[in-house]
Amino acid sequence: MALNNYRARVNSCLGAHLSQNSALSENMRYSVLARGKRFRPILTYTTASVFGMDLAQADSCACAVELIHIYSLIHDDLPAMDDDDMRHNQPANHTRFGEGQAILAGDALQALAFDVLTKNDSIDPQIRVNLVHQLSRAAFAMAEGQSIDLSIVSKNVEIELLYSMHRKKTGALLQCAVMLGASLYPKLSREDELILDSFSQDIGLAYQVQDDVLDVSTPDAVLGKRQNSDAEKGKPTFPSLLGMDESTKIYQSLYEKASERILQLSVDESPLRELTEKLMSRTF
Ligand code: IPE
Ligand code: IPE
Ligand code: MG
Ligand code: MG
Ligand code: MG
Repeated sequence: MALNNYRARVNSCLGAHLSQNSALSENMRYSVLARGKRFRPILTYTTASVFGMDLAQADSCACAVELIHIYSLIHDDLPAMDDDDMRHNQPANHTRFGEGQAILAGDALQALAFDVLTKNDSIDPQIRVNLVHQLSRAAFAMAEGQSIDLSIVSKNVEIELLYSMHRKKTGALLQCAVMLGASLYPKLSREDELILDSFSQDIGLAYQVQDDVLDVSTPDAVLGKRQNSDAEKGKPTFPSLLGMDESTKIYQSLYEKASERILQLSVDESPLRELTEKLMSRTF
């Protein structure tokens, strides 16, 4: 599978977009070049490739979506948010550089994401505007989801609220990763667009439910971040509301439903199905 190629490809593109000429850029490089799994850019490349698109066109989408993700992680770990001191098996950005600089690195990464996306001249300008629109909406939804997350600490909430929070804080950007890849294809049919929309919504939600489960079950050294962070911070999660078995069933069946949905695509969907299996069996 092309997974490792895509990972290497986005790593090299990300490196090329980061300058080395200031303290802030050193800070940004610290988080961007850490060992993230790169599933969002991999989703973008895989989707673009099933529609026969040139990967050079997908590079800026893949980088932009990962830059937004990394910005969200830096801010997520801040003392004012989850107050976590470890990420990707290294000190969290604010632990290494201080809170103020970590906030600024996140701000700059968000700006860089849109810079990268807009300056790719190989993409038709009208398509580029559409990509920017989609990414800005996903980044907005992420912030809304994070806001809900902070507002419900130590509260009793209904499971429906967790569904909508997870769709926003994590699902929206994963969904966007898929849809950006598809949007590069100028002849994308409405049918294929709707199928991918539903596929990506399900894997996006599944991904955060699984993150909640892994938070409980997986040691720090494997996760690269602190185990049991959610319980320690009083976060309502799928496992805290429904238990581990039920939560595991929920994310597995979302991935399975997503896999079935893409059987209806007009193109060979097998790379996306293989990737969905990889997501479902991830251990960190
Ligand atoms: C962690 O995402 C935070 C969520 C939004 C679930 P990832 O597990 O994808 O983070 P990486 O792989 O460390 O970048
Ligand atoms: C993160 O959710 C969602 C983001 C938008 C970053 P979590 O707070 O559960 O992510 P981790 O577990 O710290 O990676
Ligand atoms: Mg959080
Ligand atoms: Mg967190
Ligand atoms: Mg988590």
